[in-house]
Amino acid sequence: MRIDVITVFPEYLAPLELSLIGRARERGLLDVRAHDLRQWTHDVHRTVDDAPCGGGAGMVMRPEPWGEALDALLDSGEGAPRLLVPSPAGRVFSQDMAAELAAEPWLAFACGRYEGIDQRVIEDAAERMPVTEVSLGDYVLFGGEVAALTIVEAVTRLIPGVLGNRDSLLEESHNDGLLEAPSYTRPANWRGRDVPEVLMSGHHARIARWRRDQSLLRTAQSRPDLLDRAPADAFDRKDRAV
Ligand code: ADE
Repeated sequence: MRIDVITVFPEYLAPLELSLIGRARERGLLDVRAHDLRQWTHDVHRTVDDAPCGGGAGMVMRPEPWGEALDALLDSGEGAPRLLVPSPAGRVFSQDMAAELAAEPWLAFACGRYEGIDQRVIEDAAERMPVTEVSLGDYVLFGGEVAALTIVEAVTRLIPGVLGNRDSLLEESHNDGLLEAPSYTRPANWRGRDVPEVLMSGHHARIARWRRDQSLLRTAQSRPDLLDRAPADAFDRKDRAV
């Protein structure tokens, strides 16, 4: 997968050199390119923002550098990327969206700062590539860079070969719409606290049932909205007893 990130702070993307994403890049599974938006400015101050039309606080990112940046992106490869524009006004990111994006060959992120990007940039881009405005959640960040990092991490770990053990994808939170059960490792007793006895029993069916029950209880406690959203056939007879 190719991933381009356009930003006024390319240094913000440094974590993409590290850990499993860094390894996936070295192994040729990912081609990640960070671009400084200011290379598409033409004034001495390399200006990327201006006051909002209609008044109000803050600054808005000017359309001209963004237009040129996206033109350059289209000229740099085959076809068009799927463009993601992080914004608190976007569609809320989820594991389902991560899975959808993991199937794309080319993603690009337009990271806005200040009060966001002139909306005409998004309209103009949408005539040439699929565009999704995407929000991490109901809070406001300084800009789209941290959102891009988050989305890249959630998406790329779903690409075959990026994660060492793909089984862990099946058992984790949100894969089946529920939160995952708590995890334990050795020692069996630590500071007077035992690992739940069933996990030391070697009895696979009992362990699976315990994990499922814990998963349901945790979801009911922390995220009851997830249970409300699950289809009725997501639960079996034993689940209903929990
Ligand atoms: N930019 C600023 N706030 C954001 C959020 N909540 N999600 C995505 N991008 C953002």
